[in-house]
Amino acid sequence: MAYETLIVEIEDNVALIRLNRPDALNALNSTLLGELSKALAAADKDDAVRCIIITGSEKAFAAGADIKEMAEKGFVEMFGEDFFAAEAEAIIRTRKPIIAAVSGYALGGGCELAMACDFIICSDTAKFGQPEINLGIVAGLGGTQRLTRFVGKSKSMDMHLTGRFMDAAEAERCGLVSRVVPAKDLLTEAKKAGAKIAEKSVLTAMVVKECVSRSYETTLREGTLFERRAFHALFASEDQKEGMAAFLEKRTPQFRDK
Ligand code: CAA
Repeated sequence: MAYETLIVEIEDNVALIRLNRPDALNALNSTLLGELSKALAAADKDDAVRCIIITGSEKAFAAGADIKEMAEKGFVEMFGEDFFAAEAEAIIRTRKPIIAAVSGYALGGGCELAMACDFIICSDTAKFGQPEINLGIVAGLGGTQRLTRFVGKSKSMDMHLTGRFMDAAEAERCGLVSRVVPAKDLLTEAKKAGAKIAEKSVLTAMVVKECVSRSYETTLREGTLFERRAFHALFASEDQKEGMAAFLEKRTPQFRDK
């Protein structure tokens, strides 16, 4: 499928979705977010896809929601459209693992999009920020909630209240990103991580994703119960039999996503 604001390639069972509005530093307008929702749904359904990567350009993952598109809107319009609600849902509804590969600016909605993915690998040039306060607004794609859960209240307040940017080293130190790599290696490293995930059973990967994501939604007791039931349930899968047999027979497992 051809998109106006995205470039999508599938290679070695990994879908690479590249945000592509270079003139606006990949600012997230409704066309881009609508297309991203469609591309994620398509990748989720496609048996040839086992992992998804979302990336931007070297200069910007995404510099936030499109300010030009929002500037003239009023409350009634924003509320009436439930602006960003469907798009935010589409990202978290995706069941296959999503890696955000971030280089350059990941600001406002860009930072929030990266945080809505399952984990973030960033380049040493990455800059994260929630500068909405400078525009007289607050984050609208989950920033106040996700950043706080990821890095704690103090740093989240600092980021949201001062609007300052965080560099890659700080992002790694505070647990916002899983790894930092040299800018020139970002896509190679993200694809390597994607390929590693693509080797696993998709069924198991989706269960792992559900369990880890659950830790942000519920209490420790409920979360561990959810995990234990998922652990029990996977013993009904062929992939559990295959994974354990392969270990015992000292061979590589052949998962069939069943
Ligand atoms: N929306 C629309 N256009 C944007 C944009 C955005 N968020 N960010 C950058 N652009 C556009 C600029 O307007 C400019 O276009 P023109 O050439 O047509 O003027 C082009 O991208 C290049 O940007 P700059 O000239 O500003 O580039 P720079 O290198 O000097 O600065 C930057 C880069 C620091 C990222 C700066 O562009 C910037 O501060 N951008 C806005 C960041 C921001 O405030 N993001 C939050 C948006 S609100 C939000 O996201 C709400 C939410 O939570 C959902």
